[in-house]
Amino acid sequence: MSTHAKLIVDDKEYLLPIVVGSEGEKAIDITQLRNQTGFITLDSGYMNTGSTKSAITFLDGEQGILRYRGIPIEHLAEHSTFVETSYLLIYGELPNKQQLQHFSQLLSNHSMIHEDMRHFFDGYPASAHPMAILSSMVNTLSTYYPESVNVFENIEVQSTRLLSKLRTIAAFSYKKSIGKPIMYPLNHLTYCANFLHMMYAIPSEPYEVDQDMVKALNMLLILHADHEQNCSTSTVRLCGSSLPNLYTTISAGICALWGPLHGGANQEVIEMLQKLKDSDMSPKEYLGKVKDKKSNNNIRLMGFGHRVYKNYDPRAKILKKMTGVILSKKGIDDPLLDIAMEMEEVALSDSYFIERKLYPNVDFYSGILYKAMGIPINMFTVMFAIGRLPGWISHWREMMEDPDRKIGRPRQIYTGPTERPYVPMDKRK
Ligand code: CMC
Repeated sequence: MSTHAKLIVDDKEYLLPIVVGSEGEKAIDITQLRNQTGFITLDSGYMNTGSTKSAITFLDGEQGILRYRGIPIEHLAEHSTFVETSYLLIYGELPNKQQLQHFSQLLSNHSMIHEDMRHFFDGYPASAHPMAILSSMVNTLSTYYPESVNVFENIEVQSTRLLSKLRTIAAFSYKKSIGKPIMYPLNHLTYCANFLHMMYAIPSEPYEVDQDMVKALNMLLILHADHEQNCSTSTVRLCGSSLPNLYTTISAGICALWGPLHGGANQEVIEMLQKLKDSDMSPKEYLGKVKDKKSNNNIRLMGFGHRVYKNYDPRAKILKKMTGVILSKKGIDDPLLDIAMEMEEVALSDSYFIERKLYPNVDFYSGILYKAMGIPINMFTVMFAIGRLPGWISHWREMMEDPDRKIGRPRQIYTGPTERPYVPMDKRK
């Protein structure tokens, strides 16, 4: 393969270096483009722009491949735990027994939040969306750990502290929303069991954590743990590039995740399926509305389509199977699963979806599984955030260790008015 690409502008030739990744992905390095030619590149939505080199996650959207640090997502979902996968993402290797014990111990040590922070939950209205509470509370952590402004110090403590506390904040915000007393973490429990305990136990009764749900939760969080340069991870990198503390940086990522085109889609999927059930509308009828672009109704089939996957999202494949297994094991008959499966079948044989290569994504089935676990709908995106946190942290750390790190600062092509005078008020039309 050539080492350079040739660019011809106004009859002048420029050579731009070609960069090749370990899986053969190719890029043209345009770092010197503006210096050499006076031109910038324009790429709305960053459809063709690589913002960084990264050794964390490999994704081939055409073939439906996803690997964390080289290990296929299918293997991790079947054999790993969320804590082990978090270690893999952050440190690049699977931990040995001692490393895993040490990492788990650190997570246990940091599971509580400062007692004063508990009172903040009372300040939010009962209708507050838990994603707003989560992002605010994560940013608030920086006020309790002012040393975190030294972003190059105590990276281990900051990372594990946040990994552990995010789950506590999420569970506390749920308890607040239903008006029940918060449950403190129990550090002898595993990460996922501890979360379920904080969510569902009440002080007046014994609570036994359901091991099937622990397994399902581990798998759900593993599937969400990283997805290379998606919207929220790119937000974490962009925000982090100006060197604010880790908590503030992750808080920005949580905000980006909230949107319905990104992590917020899991909530939208269930609301869509529920609407169909309540109104007795068939999936075919609904898809008719989705395809009807003339009426400008802007309805999308939520949980379908992806910027990168032009094939079945491997995470959706695993989730669909696991959802069926858990529902039948628990004897849950959820009509929304039947509607979702019918919707998928009809969509995948419809030319609109075939031509545009639109397949179910990770959000299509995850909500049905969360629902079976008793997670309320407005907490679905919070669950996504808990899952994605090790990915965000890994990318932040990779960026901080990069000797070529620079503040993220895209350019633009200005299309507004050219220079004109200031007009005094009495002369304006
Ligand atoms: N339903 C109907 N049409 C769709 C959908 C959909 N879900 N997704 C894309 N299209 C159509 C779109 O209208 C466009 O058609 P046309 O060429 O006629 O204008 C074409 O497919 C390309 O769409 P796009 O919006 O240019 O594609 P994108 O890569 O910018 O958007 C997406 C990707 C995920 C935002 C989009 O597929 C979507 O809105 N999906 C629904 C929301 C969703 O499920 N989001 C979760 C994504 S996966 C998890 C995550 O990242 O958080």
